[in-house]
Parts: sequence; C-alpha cells; structure tokens
Amino acid sequence: MGYTDIKRGFPDRPCKVIAIINQKGGVGKSTTAINLSAALGETGKKVLVIDFDPQGNCTSGYGIEKEELEHDMYDVLLQDEPIENVISGTPEKRVFVAPATIQLAGAEIELVSQMARESILKGIIDPIREEFDYVFIDCPPSLGLLTINALVASDSLLIPIQCEYYALEGLTKLVESMKMVKTRLNPKLQIFGVVMTMYDTRTSLSKEVLEEVMNYFGKFVFKTVIPRNVKIAEAPSHGLPITMYARSSKGALAYGRLAKEVNRRG
Ligand SMILES: Nc1ncnc2c1ncn2[C@@H]1O[C@H](COP(=O)(O)OP(=O)(O)O)[C@@H](O)[C@H]1O
Ligand SMILES: [Mg+2]
Repeated sequence: MGYTDIKRGFPDRPCKVIAIINQKGGVGKSTTAINLSAALGETGKKVLVIDFDPQGNCTSGYGIEKEELEHDMYDVLLQDEPIENVISGTPEKRVFVAPATIQLAGAEIELVSQMARESILKGIIDPIREEFDYVFIDCPPSLGLLTINALVASDSLLIPIQCEYYALEGLTKLVESMKMVKTRLNPKLQIFGVVMTMYDTRTSLSKEVLEEVMNYFGKFVFKTVIPRNVKIAEAPSHGLPITMYARSSKGALAYGRLAKEVNRRG
C-alpha cells in the first residue's frame, strides 16, 4: 500500500514539519524520530520520517534493508529522484520513511556548489507535506549543510537532550544557527519542544540536569521525560519501534505520553 492510500488524521489542520535536532551525537534524536513517529501513528496520525543522517539509523531502526535500496535521500537531494520513489512503508502502517544510507555523506560536500543550496530539501518537502500530519527530519550530529537544509525546510525544532553532565553545552551554537536561518532564510522557524531523554530516576544527576534545562528552555520542555530503558535500546536491532517491540515497557508508555503532548501542542 502506498502512502497516498492512507488518510491523514488531522485533515483540518496543516501539516507540521519538525526537525529533530541537536548537533551532539548519541542524545536520542533517531530513537525519538522512530518511537515518537510510531506512537503518533498509533494515535491515528500519518507521519513521514525523513532520514537525513548518513548513519541511516531511522532507516534500519524501521527494519528497512539498506542493501536492497535502489535510491535514498542522497538521490532525492542531488540527483532529482522524486521523493515519492524512495518513500517506504514501515511495520507501523501510518508511518513512512524516506531512507538514508552512507551515500548521503557525500551530499555535505556536493551541496556546497549547488544553486540555492540551503533550500533544496524545502523544495522537496513542500509539494508533498499536506499528505501528512507530521513530517520529521532526523538530523545528523553536525551543523553542516544537511542540517541547514533541515532548518530551512522546517516549521519548528524538536530538541532531544540527554540527561547527563554538560547537557546544555553546544546548544547555544544550535540556537545561534536557528537565529541565523530565521533572519535570512526561514522567518517562521521556531522551537516546537525540548524532550529529555535517557532519564535515570535513581540518580540525582538526571534531576539536576532537568532543572537546568527547564531554567534555559522554560515552557518548551515537555512534561514527559523519556526514561533510560533497555527495551528502547534493543528495539532497533529487531527493526521495530518500541510501540511494537515491547508495547507495555516503560519506554513505550513514555513515547505514547509524549505523542499525546505533541498532538496537544500541535
Ligand atoms: N531512552 C533510552 N534508553 C536506553 N537507550 C537509549 C534511549 N534513547 C536512546 N538510547 C540509545 O542511545 C544511543 C544513541 O541514541 P540515538 O537515538 O542513536 O542518538 P542520536 O540519533 O542523537 O545520535 C543508541 O544506542 C540508542 O539505542
Ligand atoms: Mg541519529
């Protein structure tokens, strides 16, 4: 079944294009892109996840075999391949993935010499966005041209922050990049929300970091915090989101609550 056969859950509400972004690696961006999209799918929403990281974690995490792909987001971005040709279904029937492979790593350099190089992804998403309730862009851990393309193409940003020392380090750089893109290329860009990941209830550190992040980002921080949960870490190796791999685990329940909060905020 193709993505146009499945109906949107919010036909009266415009689609939201949200970049899942933090230039630090390992903070839970891809995990959130996979599991939040699946949880939203379970609430009846139709979601496209654009894998925009050459590591392709959303692609493999949703069980898509990279070796079998003829085309990926690299071809869409730089070889004029229509995105419709690369979008794939997933085990969660309302979620679709535009996949990435290591091929996308070449885009960072090739983009430099392109015309309107910052706006290519926007030109790709705009014509199809109204097919979906949400489009997520899973960003690479850098502030290069792929990430700038994501910032230009998005309405807003979802920032996962890991509960650890120096959690806020580097985020001022992200906020600066956001401001620069807002001034020059995408005036409507805003923060959608901040989600705390890998929260450990047994340590006071997690609590301290949460407080620090609340002081900095205030009302943007979601009430739902995602706990550190082994099932969340295991799920990608089974090619399934947590909602399908371990639906009553703490991790699945947390992403379910986050999806409800996201829908309310939308
Ligand atoms: N809530 C969680 N509990 C346990 N492990 C997690 C959780 N969130 C992420 N992880 C693990 O942490 C690692 C980094 O997460 P990932 O989403 O790939 O980060 P990023 O996309 O920001 O680089 C992965 O191995 C992932 O399985
Ligand atoms: Mg990632």
